[in-house]
Amino acid sequence: MANNKLQNIIDTMPNLPTMPNIVMEALNIIGNPKSNINQLSNIISKDSSLTMQILKLVNSAYYGFPTQITTINKAMALLGLNQVKSLIMSVAVQPMMMSYYGINLWEHSIRCAVGCQILSKSLKQGETDEAFVMGLLHDIGKTIFEIHNKGALSEIDRLVKLGADRLTAEKMMFGFDHTEIGQQLVNKWRLPILISNCVKYHHTPQLSENISLVGIVYVANKVSQEKLQYPILDSDIVDTLDFDIPDPQKLREEIFETSQSIINALAK
Ligand SMILES: [Fe+2]
Ligand SMILES: [Fe+2]
Repeated sequence: MANNKLQNIIDTMPNLPTMPNIVMEALNIIGNPKSNINQLSNIISKDSSLTMQILKLVNSAYYGFPTQITTINKAMALLGLNQVKSLIMSVAVQPMMMSYYGINLWEHSIRCAVGCQILSKSLKQGETDEAFVMGLLHDIGKTIFEIHNKGALSEIDRLVKLGADRLTAEKMMFGFDHTEIGQQLVNKWRLPILISNCVKYHHTPQLSENISLVGIVYVANKVSQEKLQYPILDSDIVDTLDFDIPDPQKLREEIFETSQSIINALAK
C-alpha cells in the first residue's frame, strides 16, 4: 500500500495510540543537550504512577544496585539521561501493547529490547540505550490492528496456526502489515529515522540502509519469539549481515534470563 494511503489510515484513526504528554516532554528534555537531570526529575515527579514504575524498574535485579533507590532524582543520577529514556519508553508503551495481545506482545518486546542491547554491546554497534528502544518498538504496528479491525486479528491468528506466514496474512486481511503501519506510527510520534527503519525492516534487514543496526533487531526478534521456529535465523538474511551469531539458542537463553527481572518489576 502506498505510503500516503497508510499515513491517511493513521491520521483518520480514532483512538490512535499516543505517547503520553509527560513522556514526550521527558524525551524532549533528554534530546536537548542543554538540559539537566533536575529538569527531567521535575517533569517525571509530576506523574506518580510513572515515578513508581521507574523506581520499581531501577530497583529490579536488572540494574543490580546494592541499595534501594527511593527518589527519582537519585535514580536519574545513577542511570544517566539515556538509560532513563529507555526506562520511560518501556513504561509508556506497556498499556498500548497489552490490550489485545495481553502480556505476550509486551514481554516479547521487552525481550527483543534486551536482546538488542546485548548485541549492540557485544558487537560494538550503535548506542546500547538506543538499541533497547529499537527492540522495544519493533512490533508497535501490531497495536494498530486492534483499533483498525479487531475481528480480523483472530482470523490472522487462525491462518498463522494453519501455517500461513504472519506478514502475508496481515497484508491479506488489512492491505498492509505491521511493519508498514508501525513505521507510519513512529513517524507520527516523530521518533528518530533509525527507529522508523527498525520498525519497517526488522523482518527484512537486508533492504535497510542501516543494515548492521536493523540486523541486530532482526536477530533479537527471531531469538525472542515465545515459540521458537526453526531454523531460528534465515541463513540467506544472515549472509547479508556484517556479523555472525554462532549460537542463537545461547543468545536466547541469555535474553530470557536477563529480561525476566524487568518483566517481573513491571508486571501488573
Ligand atoms: Fe514483527
Ligand atoms: Fe517481534
